[in-house]
Amino acid sequence: MCGIIGFTGNEKAIPKLVEGLAALEYRGYDSAGVAYFGGGILQTVKAKGRLTNLAARLENIAGEGITAGIGHTRWATHGEVSDVNSHPHGNQRTCGVHNGIIENYSELSAYLETEGYTFASDTDTERAILLIDFLYTRTGDPVRAMQEAAERIKGSFAFAVMFSERPDSIYAMRRDSPLLASPSDVGMFIASDISAVLGYTRRFARIEEGEVAVLTRDSIEYYTRDGKRLTKEYETTPWNPEAAERGGYAHFMIKEIHEEPTVVSGTVRPRIRDRLPYLDLPLLTAERIQSIRQIHIAACGTAMHAGLIGKYAVEKLARIPVNVEIASEFRYRNPILQPDDLVILISQSGETADTLAALRLAKSKGVPTLAVVNVPGSAIAREADAVLYTWAGPEIAVASTKAYSVQIALLYLLSIHFGKAMGTITEAETRNLCEELANAHQYIEKSLGLADHCRSIAEIYKNHRNIFFIGRGRDFALSMEAALKMKEISYIHCEAYAAGELKHGTISLIEKGTPVVAFATESAVFDKMISNIKEVRSRGARVLLFVPEGYAIPEDTADDIIRLPDIPEVFMPLCAAAPAQLLAYYTAVELGCDVDKPRNLAKSVTVE
Ligand code: G6P
Repeated sequence: MCGIIGFTGNEKAIPKLVEGLAALEYRGYDSAGVAYFGGGILQTVKAKGRLTNLAARLENIAGEGITAGIGHTRWATHGEVSDVNSHPHGNQRTCGVHNGIIENYSELSAYLETEGYTFASDTDTERAILLIDFLYTRTGDPVRAMQEAAERIKGSFAFAVMFSERPDSIYAMRRDSPLLASPSDVGMFIASDISAVLGYTRRFARIEEGEVAVLTRDSIEYYTRDGKRLTKEYETTPWNPEAAERGGYAHFMIKEIHEEPTVVSGTVRPRIRDRLPYLDLPLLTAERIQSIRQIHIAACGTAMHAGLIGKYAVEKLARIPVNVEIASEFRYRNPILQPDDLVILISQSGETADTLAALRLAKSKGVPTLAVVNVPGSAIAREADAVLYTWAGPEIAVASTKAYSVQIALLYLLSIHFGKAMGTITEAETRNLCEELANAHQYIEKSLGLADHCRSIAEIYKNHRNIFFIGRGRDFALSMEAALKMKEISYIHCEAYAAGELKHGTISLIEKGTPVVAFATESAVFDKMISNIKEVRSRGARVLLFVPEGYAIPEDTADDIIRLPDIPEVFMPLCAAAPAQLLAYYTAVELGCDVDKPRNLAKSVTVE
């Protein structure tokens, strides 16, 4: 999704804007631009496509004396991908960048036209910035202009705006889209994401809805809705700049897959004490858990797939019913929510608009909410009644890998905790499970040893345009994530299917050579899975089987086999995740795809 960076200080601004935009590239974008005050006027430079296009256009600007500017990476919503639709937008007096969506932009257009404004682009952003400009001409006060504009704008936004009459200042505000202000030794920053400023500072303050931040060379002032000065406390992110660098790997994605053993261990081990779960939250006391009628998990994309694994674990170990739903469906279908339910929101970024809306819906119905989130201080983490951080560090590749593994690991710990509270597992079983989970990282490490094998299979897969992924139960959930990973980055069409359901229609698509990836890690349905595999093989499918080392498989079941380390069965998804991700990764690499920044996708989807 779009990214914002702004800087004002005592050093050259343009290199900092480009650096910041480079750090935001991972969010997904299709064009980029900057605005700065140069030669006495507000100037903009924009370019469609990759940031390198913008950087090339900025090369001839010496940048001496340019010490304030704003930059943006755009992920198109209103209007095609083009130079003119790229941000910043505005006029000679007022220029700004925007993340989010302005819902009443037609209404604003009509209003501004009656005030004599014309538009250069098709974007909702241009209307919003020109509204700020219009209100500025009326009030002469940038802070009031921003606040009055916020009252007239419907939708979500984060704005950073410059006014030619205030050349060293940047004005910023937000609603539902993240925006941080960060002071540093070299100057003041505004950014949609802390990664953009990690090279200079780890301190930040979130701008809250209704507030306006005013950045000048050496200070940041905050104003409340009624124009009063506000003092804000700064937080320090635990993330460091190195964590957001590739560190010798070809792509962030492969680096992040290799981090899985470390981050899973780092998430789980500090939360196990005396071989028992240690989740010290008032929301998770035994009494509260025993009174839960139903758990709802709402999430999007990969996080939703982690939720499905969580459902199997909670229902197996704690026997509490769990409903997993895509957040964008959950939020609009008036779900049956009762005060003795628990709603769990899972999100890497903690900013996904639909997941945030699901959280707010649950809260409005008085249902307790628990967030499983990776980004410290993100909106979902802050608004939920309780939060369990996944502590994976920054995940930069758009395709989620390590975040998925830590989400699953934490959901396992949660389900053990629930099981203990419900009395559905004994204390001895609880301790055994905790011990096994605490050692899971060793098995994940072993599964990374399958990389070369995955790479050789990828060489075959790259030549296909359709791949099926099948499994039963928990393995079906795994199949969905494995298929998503492959689709996201290799652009090969994939379909995940419950193995037993294939014969009710989709098997008609199987012909000689059709690749089918089968997961068979559940002993209870292993024989059924083998039968389903035989069904597709006898119709010519080329089968790749993911199966634990210890399972005996009948002869001639599969063309290729990936033997997963023998982690205790309930935790098998932790071992299957990395090889499935590696298969997608190497297929995409073989195809020459932009692995870390797949087309049309965004890392953090802050629009619905
Ligand atoms: C986007 C990303 C996916 C991610 C999903 C949910 O679509 O491309 O990789 O799984 O959002 O993101 P979240 O930050 O809420 O986990």
